[in-house]
Amino acid sequence: MPLAIIVGGFFGDEGKGKIAAYLAIADNPFIAIRCGSINAGHTVVYNGRMWKLRLVPSFFVNKFTKLMIPAGALIRLDVFFNELMETGAGDRIFVDRNAGVIENRHVEAERNDSFLVRDVGSTLQGVGFAMADRVLRRLRLAKDFEELRNYLVDVALEVNNAIDKGELVYVEGVQGTFLSLYHGTYPYVTSRDTTASAFASEVGVGPKKIDEVMVVFKSYVTRVGGGPLDGELAPEEAERLGLVEIATVTGRRRRAALFNVELAKRAVMLNSATQVAITKLDVLYPVDKCVREWNKLSKDARSWLENIENALKTPITIISTGEDVLCTIDRRKELGFGWR
Ligand code: IMP
Repeated sequence: MPLAIIVGGFFGDEGKGKIAAYLAIADNPFIAIRCGSINAGHTVVYNGRMWKLRLVPSFFVNKFTKLMIPAGALIRLDVFFNELMETGAGDRIFVDRNAGVIENRHVEAERNDSFLVRDVGSTLQGVGFAMADRVLRRLRLAKDFEELRNYLVDVALEVNNAIDKGELVYVEGVQGTFLSLYHGTYPYVTSRDTTASAFASEVGVGPKKIDEVMVVFKSYVTRVGGGPLDGELAPEEAERLGLVEIATVTGRRRRAALFNVELAKRAVMLNSATQVAITKLDVLYPVDKCVREWNKLSKDARSWLENIENALKTPITIISTGEDVLCTIDRRKELGFGWR
């Protein structure tokens, strides 16, 4: 059984939460690890309820999956305990002893940093300053907090043991490839690398153990905050096309552009993608809302997907046609993929 990593292909907000929640129900993984930090919000809609999560893995919808937060992640105690209440996942979530902890002083420092506020458009959650403290070796870690004592484990050991026993493990990456500190549109980026290799490193698994990398693209591109966005649409045009979105963490309006094949090709390369997932197909093709079979998609939607698949030279295995977990087309079996 493999280790699979889910990664955002554009600038975050591609709908990774929805894809992760679908895979939780479809694949029944043994462990799911959520990387990154509280600047990234993942939305899950399941059984008539909606959750907006900043730490708990979107995989929580499967009650049999063990949930983990890795050494490379940064948590905040209040966000962590609130989400445990909202999800009821407190008895099956574990935090690596070395996960970092964001404190109020990090948030204050970020709010007072005019470059981050005005130019970068940071989400101002304190993540960048906590990362800086970590680099300078003065960040407090999960093991330093009494409140976390009952949740602490060695995530790298648990994950490597599970993989060696043949269990299915998913890593839920956050943000998007072009927000990467190394591979993104620097300096308009986040405070960490956001590619598949970085998420494996956060967890503590080596490259040889990665079997599948699923890069998630939305059917159009959005970005919040500063930085270049090729082909950016005027707000009225974005509105006319139905591409207006409000950011999960900050409540800001997202800037929008049409699907960018060249950017997507680069994301496939940077992440060594083995599969591609496309979300929000129903925004481009409303007639396909909540369609669950490839053959029932409109001709236009199918040919749009086939063109992208050919350009990316990577199979589109999962297609999301609505926000509910059940509004999903899963082509993995028919394409001869993986463990389904
Ligand atoms: P920071 O990481 O909060 O400092 O934000 C740096 C830049 O990355 C800003 O432009 C943010 O809007 C963007 N950003 C950070 N996290 C996310 C995310 O999860 N989705 C989309 N944009 C993000």
